[in-house]
Amino acid sequence: MKIFNWGIIGPGRIARKFAADLTLLPNARLYAVGSRSADRAAEFAREYKVPHHFDSYEALANCPGLDLVYIATPHSGHCEAAVLCLERGLAVLCEKPLALNLVEAQRMAAAALRNDAFLMEALWTRFLPPTLQVLEWIETGAIGQLQAVKADFGFPAPFDPAGRLFDPALGGGALLDIGIYPVFLTLLCLGTPQRIEAASAIGRTGVDEDTGMVFQYKNGAMAHLHASLRYHTAIEAFIYGDKGTIQMHSRWHHTRQLTLTPAEGDPLVMHYDYPGLGYQFEAAEAMRCIEAGLKESPLMPVRFSLDLMAVLDRTKR
Ligand SMILES: NC(=O)c1ccc[n+]([C@@H]2O[C@H](COP(=O)([O-])OP(=O)(O)OC[C@H]3O[C@@H](n4cnc5c(N)ncnc54)[C@H](OP(=O)(O)O)[C@@H]3O)[C@@H](O)[C@H]2O)c1
Repeated sequence: MKIFNWGIIGPGRIARKFAADLTLLPNARLYAVGSRSADRAAEFAREYKVPHHFDSYEALANCPGLDLVYIATPHSGHCEAAVLCLERGLAVLCEKPLALNLVEAQRMAAAALRNDAFLMEALWTRFLPPTLQVLEWIETGAIGQLQAVKADFGFPAPFDPAGRLFDPALGGGALLDIGIYPVFLTLLCLGTPQRIEAASAIGRTGVDEDTGMVFQYKNGAMAHLHASLRYHTAIEAFIYGDKGTIQMHSRWHHTRQLTLTPAEGDPLVMHYDYPGLGYQFEAAEAMRCIEAGLKESPLMPVRFSLDLMAVLDRTKR
C-alpha cells in the first residue's frame, strides 16, 4: 500500500478538522505544515504530530517527499497557494470555492495542465455517501424527470469586519462561503442554468450577507436557493421530480439522513453512520485518483469546478 505524504497550507479552523479526519485513512500521513507564522506552524505540528513544519507556504511547497497538498487558507489565498504547489508538480486538494472568481480558477486549471499535476476542489459534500446515493436515485429514475431543487444554508455569523466571512479582501460574503453548497447541488442535479436571478442584502463591509437565487433551465426546471450569514435557516435540500422527492435532512451538506418519497408508495428513509466528520472521503478520493494516474477526479472534475465558479460569478453580477 502506498502511503501518501500530505502537506497542509493555512493551518486554521478547517485544516484542524481535516487533519483529524486524515488520521482515519491508513494510507495517509500528515507530513508537513506551512503557515505564515513559524509559531503557528510549530503549534499545529505539535497538535497533530506533523514531522515537518515551515514558516512560509513556499518553504512547504519545497519540502522534499510531499505527495499532495491540502490548501485551507481563506478563498483569497487559494489561487496563489495552488499555483505555487502545482508549478512544483505537487498534487493539490484545494478548499472550496476553488478561487475567488473564474479568472483565478482558470489560472489554477492551466497550471495543473501545464505541470501534469492533479487538482481537485475539496467540496466535501460531493464525496459523502448520502450524496452518492442521491445521484444513484436520480440516475435510476427513482423520482422521475427532475423538476426543481430547493436548498438553503444560513447561520448567524458573529460580525467581525476583519474576519474572512466579512472582509471583501478575503473573499467574504454568504454566496462564496455557504451559498456555494446549494449552487453546487443544483449544478450536480440540473447542470448549468440558462437564467439566474439573484438579490442580496449587502452589509456594512460591502459583502453579501443574505442572498436569494432563482435558476431557470431551458427544459423548465427551476432552483430556489438561499444563503445567509444573518440568521439560522433549516439547512435542508429537496430535489423534486415528477415521480417523487428526495429530502437531504439538516444539515444537508453533510447529512446523515435521506428520505426518498415516491409519488406512490411508502417513503424510504436511509441513515448513515461513519466515523469522523466526513473530510476523509475527499482525501481518499484524491489519493485513489493519484494512485490510478489520474490528473483530476471523475467525481469532481476541474471542468465542474470551473462551471461552478462561472455560475457563482454570474450570480454575483
Ligand atoms: N469544507 C468545509 O466544511 C469548510 C468549512 C470551513 C471552511 N472551509 C473553507 O476553508 C477555507 C478556510 O476556512 P477557515 O474557516 O479554516 O479559515 P481561517 O481559519 O480563518 O483561516 C485559515 C488559515 O489561513 C491562513 N491565512 C492565509 N492568509 C490569510 C489571511 N489573509 N487572513 C487570515 N488567514 C490567512 C491562516 O493560517 P497561517 O497564517 O497560519 O498560514 C489561517 O489560520 C475557506 O476557503 C473556506 O471556504 C471549508
